[in-house]
Amino acid sequence: MTGAPHAGPNFWQTARVRLRAFTTEDAEVSFLWSLDSQRARDLEHVWPPASREQVEHWVARKARQSFENGDFDMVIENAAGTPVGAISTHRCDPRTGTFSYALDIAREHRRRGYAHDAVGLLLRFYFQECRYQKVTVSVHADNVASVALHEKLGFVLEGRLRRMVYTGGRFQDEVWFGQTAEEFAARHPPSQAGPG
Ligand SMILES: CC(C)(COP(=O)(O)OP(=O)(O)OC[C@H]1O[C@@H](n2cnc3c(N)ncnc32)[C@H](O)[C@@H]1OP(=O)(O)O)[C@@H](O)C(=O)NCCC(=O)NCCS
Repeated sequence: MTGAPHAGPNFWQTARVRLRAFTTEDAEVSFLWSLDSQRARDLEHVWPPASREQVEHWVARKARQSFENGDFDMVIENAAGTPVGAISTHRCDPRTGTFSYALDIAREHRRRGYAHDAVGLLLRFYFQECRYQKVTVSVHADNVASVALHEKLGFVLEGRLRRMVYTGGRFQDEVWFGQTAEEFAARHPPSQAGPG
């Protein structure tokens, strides 16, 4: 037989993005991302500077992680195969079927639909492959981009916790968005073929 083997459809890609596991080669780009302090603030708060060795160690651990308790970290690539960001699930609880996640897209790659597609793939996997039933995400109230993203993705605003974030010398509220598996399925009917 000649020619490359046919890989078949990959669940983890859309026309714009592909989600894949971390490899040790992602250390350099991860180190560059760690230098963006506004990104850190949007995700949490400004962290102490990370050394290349720390980032290499962190990425090496991610590259070896297995999907045992539900928490998982993935790189978001664009259609050209360039890493543009990352998405990670956390607080995955198979008993209640609830989970949470965080994501970020590098500044120069924003507003191209990458976050929209990456979250869509993630939700389809947890809801329609792993039988989770509810996702919740906490967003800093001043994070206009993330609030708009989650509204566009059909999340419901579930609550607001006052003064939960401190960065840049001031407090911010935290807003919580949620979506059930049924709400997701109404917008994205299950399909054998993958996200499409
Ligand atoms: C929030 C973030 C992930 C969005 O990533 P992105 O790839 O630029 O988002 P998308 O291009 O998929 O945008 C999808 C929709 O979200 C909304 N949106 C995204 N960025 C926006 C912005 N800066 N202002 C207003 N709306 C925005 C829009 O409705 C957009 O659809 P449109 O472009 O058709 O109008 C990105 O800004 C980011 O990484 N920020 C820093 C880290 C962060 O805040 N992470 C989220 C923590 S909960």
